[in-house]
Amino acid sequence: MARKFFVGGNFKMNGTKESIKSIVKGLNEAQLDSNVEVVIAPPALYLQLARDELTKAGVEVAAQNVYDKPNGAYTGEISVSQLKDLDVHWTILGHSERRTLLKETDEVVASKTKFAVDGGVSVIWCCGESLEEREAGKTVEVVERQLAAVAAKVSAGDWSKIVIAYEPIWAIGTGKVATVQQAQEVHEAIRKWLRANVGEAVADETRILYGGSVNGKNCKDLAKEKDIDGFLVGGASLKPEFVDIINSNL
Ligand code: G3P
Repeated sequence: MARKFFVGGNFKMNGTKESIKSIVKGLNEAQLDSNVEVVIAPPALYLQLARDELTKAGVEVAAQNVYDKPNGAYTGEISVSQLKDLDVHWTILGHSERRTLLKETDEVVASKTKFAVDGGVSVIWCCGESLEEREAGKTVEVVERQLAAVAAKVSAGDWSKIVIAYEPIWAIGTGKVATVQQAQEVHEAIRKWLRANVGEAVADETRILYGGSVNGKNCKDLAKEKDIDGFLVGGASLKPEFVDIINSNL
């Protein structure tokens, strides 16, 4: 079956009111492939600004994280229901920067994923290995461990609200993009794991994005791979070449 191409822009902790308005204006005015689902994830402080400024059909706004509890005494956290209140229906979860810097475990990410989906917020769920794990030949083992944690929490029906982003940590922000073969191999392994452990339909229908130093030059070759259904883009999402990445599947 044809999976709708998906491109996410993870702005991380970057931007100002003016720069985010400028990025959104650029997307509003750009010629975008209508067969691509686009989501931009500004810092939480700018979610409402991005939501209010965005007029482009097919482009949505996402948070970069949410908490897995209802509103309450959780200082500094971001609430699923408050995202819905802002008309924000996506969030990134389990980004390697949160797994490593903020020590988010597989189980915490899985719990947040289930809570977000149950609350009506779709999830870009991130996974990926470190350079040491890759060099030790443990890439697939690591990704399967991460997958098992989230699969243990969500139901088969929840997967329609989940997009997977495979982001090798050693490729994030380094300019060292994975080769087409490296990326396709892991995407294929993820889809194989879904087929064996969740089901045929989920394996066939779940979008698997590649993230890690994607840019306007390397995106086209990566987009040709059968198990690469789009990208989660960091640095390049802050630049005009983000439009080229969105249109890389044309
Ligand atoms: O979430 C996407 C991000 O981790 C990739 O970053 O700057 O390598 O595209 P970058």
